[in-house]
Amino acid sequence: MVSLCWLVLVASLLGWLAVARPAPLLAQAGGVAWAWSGAITHESATVVARVADGVTGARLVITPDRAGAEADAMTVPSTGMAAPDAHGVIRFAVTRLSPATRYRYRVETPSGERLDGRLRTWADGPFSFRVTFASCATTASNSRVFDAIRSMTPDLFVHMGDFHYLNISRNDHAAFRRGYDRVLSSPRQSALYRSTPIAYMFDDHDFGANNADSTSASGPAAGTVYRERVPHYALQPGASIQQSFTIGRVRVIVTDTRTARAPVDADRPRTMLGEAQVRWLEDEFEKAKDAPLVIWVNTVPWITKANEATSEGWAPYAEERTRLADRIEALGLTARIVMLSGDGHMSAIDDGRNSAYMSGRTPATRGFVVAHGAPLDRWTRTKGGPYSHGVSRRNHQFGMLDVADTGTALDVTVSVRNGTGGLVPGLQLSLRCEKDACVPVSHTQ
Ligand SMILES: [Fe+2]
Repeated sequence: MVSLCWLVLVASLLGWLAVARPAPLLAQAGGVAWAWSGAITHESATVVARVADGVTGARLVITPDRAGAEADAMTVPSTGMAAPDAHGVIRFAVTRLSPATRYRYRVETPSGERLDGRLRTWADGPFSFRVTFASCATTASNSRVFDAIRSMTPDLFVHMGDFHYLNISRNDHAAFRRGYDRVLSSPRQSALYRSTPIAYMFDDHDFGANNADSTSASGPAAGTVYRERVPHYALQPGASIQQSFTIGRVRVIVTDTRTARAPVDADRPRTMLGEAQVRWLEDEFEKAKDAPLVIWVNTVPWITKANEATSEGWAPYAEERTRLADRIEALGLTARIVMLSGDGHMSAIDDGRNSAYMSGRTPATRGFVVAHGAPLDRWTRTKGGPYSHGVSRRNHQFGMLDVADTGTALDVTVSVRNGTGGLVPGLQLSLRCEKDACVPVSHTQ
């Protein structure tokens, strides 16, 4: 117990030092400190940029990524420059893009300084694409794993939290802003986030302290600064930042497991998502019931050992987990869901053998596919399980999901990649999704 107390004390001190550290000297960084894109659809995108201190405006120039396309360039705003908010951030909402088209963009200041990026819009119908997913990187990490992810040329990078480990436990907006500035100024992370759009959901260490929940004083600041600085999809009324979107024919649902999470406390109802988000999620499953594939981004471990007194992942919220599993099962969606998760500092794949939590299940009942991709750059630790395809407990890992849509069926491969992009042996699962179910076609054990 004494050593645990020391560990907590040292971790808190390190966290405080990290928060107290000044932000990068953005005034010296040139005109545009960072930029990233997200909220991609078949016709629109959002680019968010941070200009250096003292820069009064910037504009976005976006051009189809093909030779001779300069005449098709669009600028946002159409004339002049957009002014930054009080903290140097500008949000560019881009519309009237063409579907399934690669674009290059640049954010440029009145004096001509610029930062460049790329994105690809989705198709409004059958569409083949690649998603990479991961979580957990030491604050402002400049690991080569970010180059490895970029080298896979994904259409989307899903960041599932622990974007930094500042452990900000106060309602301190400035500290969260410094967090974004530090991470997005890391050269390799900057290069990745400018090469591919992101969908980012925070987890505990980038929302508050370890295991943070709705009682964390940091919650309002985490949510407010997320809204200021992240290119996100439409948000719902209320504090939680869950989102949903469609890539081609695939529905993607991203849940927020921190903002409304009740502490594990005998006097309070046990909820991971909060009642409003649970209802929203049930409604989202209903709306997705005809989709050939649903990707559910759930940051924390879904699979936890049945008879273990553990506080990991969904274990303390087993009642809510069964409520959601029952809803999914009633809609006939179980065989069409792939869950992407982080949190555990490990990677793992389960083909559904261990993920069934619906009422009345037997040992033979199948759940949905669960894939963990982590850690980006952090010490290792296994959480949850068991997982049918096993666990890779190594640093510098990420997950990858490939979808090839033939128009009548989806060929889906989920895999785990090492720090140079290579396949982690055994951690690959292929599915064919047609006729209301995704069926494994081959997998490596
Ligand atoms: Fe983590």
